[in-house]
Amino acid sequence: MENKNLKGKTIIVTGANRGLGKAMTYAFAKMDAFVYMICRDPIMGKQVEKEFIDQGLNVGLKIADLEKIEDIGNVYNEIAAEKEYVDVLINNAGVNLEEPETRIENLDLNILKRTMDINFRGLLYTCQKFLYLLKNAPEARIINFSSGLGQLTVPRMGYYPGYSISKTTVNALTKNLAYELKDTNVKVFSMDPGWIKTRLGGPEAPLEIEEGIDTTIYLVTEPAENLETGEFYKERKILGW
Ligand SMILES: NC(=O)c1ccc[n+]([C@@H]2O[C@H](COP(=O)([O-])OP(=O)(O)OC[C@H]3O[C@@H](n4cnc5c(N)ncnc54)[C@H](OP(=O)(O)O)[C@@H]3O)[C@@H](O)[C@H]2O)c1
Repeated sequence: MENKNLKGKTIIVTGANRGLGKAMTYAFAKMDAFVYMICRDPIMGKQVEKEFIDQGLNVGLKIADLEKIEDIGNVYNEIAAEKEYVDVLINNAGVNLEEPETRIENLDLNILKRTMDINFRGLLYTCQKFLYLLKNAPEARIINFSSGLGQLTVPRMGYYPGYSISKTTVNALTKNLAYELKDTNVKVFSMDPGWIKTRLGGPEAPLEIEEGIDTTIYLVTEPAENLETGEFYKERKILGW
């Protein structure tokens, strides 16, 4: 992955039908990678897949609701039947289901459970399932979408406690998994895209989608020896936890 030609690489992007996931799918397919788009909504997924295929890009749609473990297993089986290995897994799909006034003291446990099931459990199971195909690659990377709200070593930047805790948990997963895989070909990163104008980020966000995917492009295209596994990246640099 020394240059920005990703021909021959297979990349999986979860939550690929809109926001940062759609933009990353486009960017990597433009670099000649084959990109599996994992989407929850089949209608929107098919629309976006067609939009990209009409532009001559190599993408393949797979449908999974990451809240449902069996969906992840089914998508894994489909991809394993088509590919001997996967080079990059981008765990981008995520939700913030909380109202701005949510605090720990009024946090709804059902909303917390859904948030953790999607942002953490689904992400963890996706890693578990695809590890075999990643280990088969000559050199592989897992990129976990976290958030500045998941950081523990800085002053709080906002509320959304359940979302924040789910992202801190993603960071803990990155650290643990990177340690387990330290002697393998698979590097594992967390990243914070910044505050980006998407449905999740909202219209007040200062940054555009292209700025939000820059660090992912870096983590996918930079030579492996320049990247530290088990670290948390933002703006192409290692961020504190
Ligand atoms: N935007 C920001 O300011 C910001 C800041 C820090 C971190 N992030 C992180 O960046 C990632 C991408 O966010 P975004 O801003 O691009 O958000 P977005 O525009 O709201 O897109 C979220 C994507 O995740 C998918 N998704 C949600 N729940 C899913 C599920 N159960 N199964 C499968 N897919 C699911 C959505 O699919 P549907 O269309 O089916 O809902 C959508 O494709 C998230 O992990 C987010 O936490 C974003």
